[in-house]
Amino acid sequence: MSVTPYTILVIPGDGIGREVIPAAVSVLQATGLPLRFVEADAGWECFQRQGDALPPATLEAARAADAVLFGAVASPSHPVVGYRSPIVRLRRELDLYANIRPVYDDPAAAGNLQARRVDLVVVRENTEGLYAGRERVEDGGATAIAERVITRRASERIARVAFELARNRRIARGEDSTPPARVTIVHKANILRETCGLFRTAALEIAQAYPDVQVEEMLVDTCALQIATRPERFDVIVTTNLFGDILSDVACAWGGGLGLASSANLGERHALFEPVHGAAPDIAGKGIANPLAAIGCTALLLAYLARRASPEDASDMNAWSTRIQRAIRHIRTAGPHTPDLGGNAVTSQMTDAVITHMLTT
Ligand code: NAI
Ligand code: MG
Repeated sequence: MSVTPYTILVIPGDGIGREVIPAAVSVLQATGLPLRFVEADAGWECFQRQGDALPPATLEAARAADAVLFGAVASPSHPVVGYRSPIVRLRRELDLYANIRPVYDDPAAAGNLQARRVDLVVVRENTEGLYAGRERVEDGGATAIAERVITRRASERIARVAFELARNRRIARGEDSTPPARVTIVHKANILRETCGLFRTAALEIAQAYPDVQVEEMLVDTCALQIATRPERFDVIVTTNLFGDILSDVACAWGGGLGLASSANLGERHALFEPVHGAAPDIAGKGIANPLAAIGCTALLLAYLARRASPEDASDMNAWSTRIQRAIRHIRTAGPHTPDLGGNAVTSQMTDAVITHMLTT
């Protein structure tokens, strides 16, 4: 194994970010892999202390790290002078243009939702769209306007990520896997003719380079209903920023809810892994946050590092990534469970159970 450690920047943030990220770090530490952890500050409390929600030192450390593990940040719902969302900024500054949000169900853990075989990924464009940050007010505050920015470049590169992912998922399932690889391009081009029109055209052009991947398009409202009623029909969904944010939250209901939803933010040079959930002020400080979403991020992180590591390190990292995922699946079904999953375990009990499972099976 390599002796040069990989540097992981850890940004717990606010609220339950400070409870679930230490849990995720303890899982990574238990692997014994050559990882070095550096911690940095960001978020609403950081803003209140330092006047900056994403201090330059944090940004610099993120650029220098091999990967970033991010918890959650709280945001004021009213405008606060000088406050900008640090996660939106980090995504933009590090050019983390692809937000990958996998969801898979587990019949035994599906709770009150009817059990189905769900195994889908939402690939969300992460740098533009309605989150481009171009908002203004006119008429002395009587009119508020947000500009939706869609570029051919960003649409093409996110489509390429989606088609590559669909192809690789099929290969991982076995070359002649059923169902076949499929990408669903989600838009609202019937109404948003220019912005969604450009996204749609660019994605359909990229599709031509992937004759082995089926392609379909779907309007976003139809897609929301289909995710809620026929989630098993989806493989990879690719869409613009706001649509992807919403659809991935809908989809994660099938995976056990927000407490289990993990995500990767990927660019050419940097990568950041974060649970989909926020700071959860309603349960913060009680020690009952479900750590599985954050722990799932460590599996995604190790799979990412493996793609860049020496073959020897890569095989260790992939093995641990698989072991962590297996442990999560096991705990999801067998418990212990935090209250969001109907149990009364605390965060540390679930974390310990994951570590025990991954070290002993
Ligand atoms: P949230 O995800 O923080 O919480 C929604 C609900 O799910 C709450 O009832 C919470 O208790 C529960 N929940 C979430 N994660 C959980 C976990 N790991 N275990 C058990 N229960 C969990 O979303 P909400 O309430 O809309 O936002 C709260 C704050 O978080 C806001 O300030 C918001 O801006 C911020 N936020 C930050 C995000 C980020 O940092 N990427 C993403 C979403 C929200
Ligand atoms: Mg969201």
